[in-house]
Amino acid sequence: MTLRPILIHPDPRLKKTASPITEVTAAIARLADDMLETMYDAPGIGLAAPQIGVMSRMFVMDCVKEEGDAPRPMVIMNPEVLWVSEDLSTYEEGCLSIPEQYGDVERPASVEMKWFGLDGQSHQQRFDRLWATCAQHELDHLNGKLFIDYLKPMRRQMITRKMQKLKREQARP
Ligand code: NI
Repeated sequence: MTLRPILIHPDPRLKKTASPITEVTAAIARLADDMLETMYDAPGIGLAAPQIGVMSRMFVMDCVKEEGDAPRPMVIMNPEVLWVSEDLSTYEEGCLSIPEQYGDVERPASVEMKWFGLDGQSHQQRFDRLWATCAQHELDHLNGKLFIDYLKPMRRQMITRKMQKLKREQARP
């Protein structure tokens, strides 16, 4: 397993639509391992392939937060939303591609998704609360959308300027 560098916003790859995965190859299995390791290392609760510059429709997540609870790594490919609740919930979201910036985003409180797993099988599951928010946030990444796109333009521009500054600082020798 290899830690992969995480792209920082703004980056054109974070604005693109990722392509469907057609088969579970050894390279895809390795990508999933690397993404999980990179997510846990960050640490984060979700990571989408475009965030490491791979334009494939895959994300990983693990929203188990209680210390001592067994981890529940999930690898989700070609996700589709089958149903969303009318109930909404608001979470203060963050993103590994937008470090240390947070904002309240309102989304459906529950979502039912269908996807393709590493076992080559189709899966379907309902996610609630934090899992639902995380799954929707990660699916957005596959469609070139970031959580800051839900914020007011002023706030979004302020965060983008901060990230541009951070990237300039990181680029300095
Ligand atoms: Ni994110």
